[in-house]
Amino acid sequence: MTIIFRMTETLDPRFADYLTTNRDFVDAAIAEAVAALDLPTGGQVLDMGTGAGGAIPHLARAVGRTGRVLAVDLNPAVTALAADHADRAGVTDRVTIRTGDATELLTEAAYDAIWTSDVIWPGNFDDPAAVVAAMARAVKPRGVVALFYSNYYQASFLPGQSRLERLLRTASELRWQLPADGPQHYERHLAWLLGAGLHDVRLRSYPRIGFPVDADPTIRPYLESAVWPELRESAARCGEQAGLTAAELSEVKQLLTPGNPRYVVDQPGFFIMHPTILATGHPPVPS
Ligand SMILES: C[S@@+](CC[C@H](N)C(=O)[O-])C[C@H]1O[C@@H](n2cnc3c(N)ncnc32)[C@H](O)[C@@H]1O
Repeated sequence: MTIIFRMTETLDPRFADYLTTNRDFVDAAIAEAVAALDLPTGGQVLDMGTGAGGAIPHLARAVGRTGRVLAVDLNPAVTALAADHADRAGVTDRVTIRTGDATELLTEAAYDAIWTSDVIWPGNFDDPAAVVAAMARAVKPRGVVALFYSNYYQASFLPGQSRLERLLRTASELRWQLPADGPQHYERHLAWLLGAGLHDVRLRSYPRIGFPVDADPTIRPYLESAVWPELRESAARCGEQAGLTAAELSEVKQLLTPGNPRYVVDQPGFFIMHPTILATGHPPVPS
């Protein structure tokens, strides 16, 4: 494995926890999504914004020993997590991990596939459509642009509490300053693919379902290290602006705090439903 680090940097432990628990939680969905791409043996794949490297083993196995996966992330501490993950998966022979801006690697017709997971959205790019257009130019004829999303904002975490759920989502969107509508909205992925001139644009879903929660060892860590801290913090910072009352803000704390007698995960019938999605498009094949 080639690892090109720009510098050493420590990673905020909360961000590391989010990346690794989210990685484990969506792993089964990513396996299905990568399989759906039908990547060619020997293919060249770019993994933009690899994070903790969750897609690397799946992409690397799909292209086989003669293929190459170039996994890139802006954050050097994150690429160290990705390198460790690739190492444990035993795929280092065909993987290069690099620190840097992945958009600078979008050279014309360079890749059989460009994969992203939770990267192409307004939280990272002012103009996601322009990035997708550059990705479209960087895939070879018969290649694929693949936008995978864990789809956090469409997940159901508080069954039976629709008002709280809706307002918490709004609080989170306000906290991260996400546009509430318009061409940069995070649900415009298909419009970005179509606007880039890609053909055969498709949307698939690989739901992750948590019930009973402890039947799947990845769910409780994901909820407790990633989801509940994010929602509690969003409620504290932007809940009032989103429309949560003081009583509801107090309820959020009780429901989303492990160990509290009202902790939502321990209530009978609790489940989560997380509809991960894969949006794909292909460049037109030259006649
Ligand atoms: C939400 S995380 C997702 C990480 C990983 N793909 C996953 O699914 O867990 C987004 C990642 O994209 C990286 N990122 C954002 N913009 C980038 C860019 N222009 N080039 C490379 N990485 C980028 C961030 O550093 C971060 O690690």
